[in-house]
Amino acid sequence: MPSTRSPRITVFPNDRAAARALARRITDALAANPRLVLGLPTGRTPVGLYHELAAHAAHGHTDFSHVTTFNLDEFLNVGPDHPGSYRQFMEQHLFSRVKIPPERINFLNGSAADPPAECARYERAIADAGGIDLQILGIGTNGHIGFNEPARQLQSRTHCVTLKPETRRSNAALFGGDAAAVPEKALSMGMATILQARSIVLLANGRSKASCIERVVNGPLTTELPASFLQLHHGVDILIDKSAAERLER
Ligand code: PGA
Repeated sequence: MPSTRSPRITVFPNDRAAARALARRITDALAANPRLVLGLPTGRTPVGLYHELAAHAAHGHTDFSHVTTFNLDEFLNVGPDHPGSYRQFMEQHLFSRVKIPPERINFLNGSAADPPAECARYERAIADAGGIDLQILGIGTNGHIGFNEPARQLQSRTHCVTLKPETRRSNAALFGGDAAAVPEKALSMGMATILQARSIVLLANGRSKASCIERVVNGPLTTELPASFLQLHHGVDILIDKSAAERLER
């Protein structure tokens, strides 16, 4: 049963059950509001969710043709056609499988000539779309959301970030298994960009996320664990499997 506190935590027997529940929440939200504005993550965690959404689309149960999407982040100096780009990741796992009109898919352009201008453009595009209705998040083992890495200060708006070594290692698979080939910098929505979403769902699976999830839920707000700021938002759901819930008291 979901708890009543905020963030609300729901523990599932496995990652597939969590992905199914979130896919159902998204398709229900789309049925209620076909013009839903979705914020989307990349990473291993949402792959099952995208698979479930593709299945809904394949069965003709859900119409994605009026949805608008904004992805959280993209590597810097990586063009949208680069096989390691998050744009290509999304193409592979979701966009090639559900019919979202290309003009409704919004992405940071990692190869933009003027990155600060590109970040400002993205903020304007989110505002012009009326803001994000439902932001889906993964979480790094270091507590990052988007590419807002642990630091003494966090940036509020979409900005250029320097990636931590552990983040580059966890993205190595996109660059032929070579962490050194992962770009050192990226563009990311900022903390306020994320926290302005009307509702937020954080998805996390596996024991490697358990300590981080415990601190996100029970720990102090700290820039050293960016996801802890989710405690400030009233509409956050955390969907986790049993392993990621290991450190939480029941
Ligand atoms: P993961 O990454 O889903 O591959 O664990 C999550 C993240 O870094 O946000």
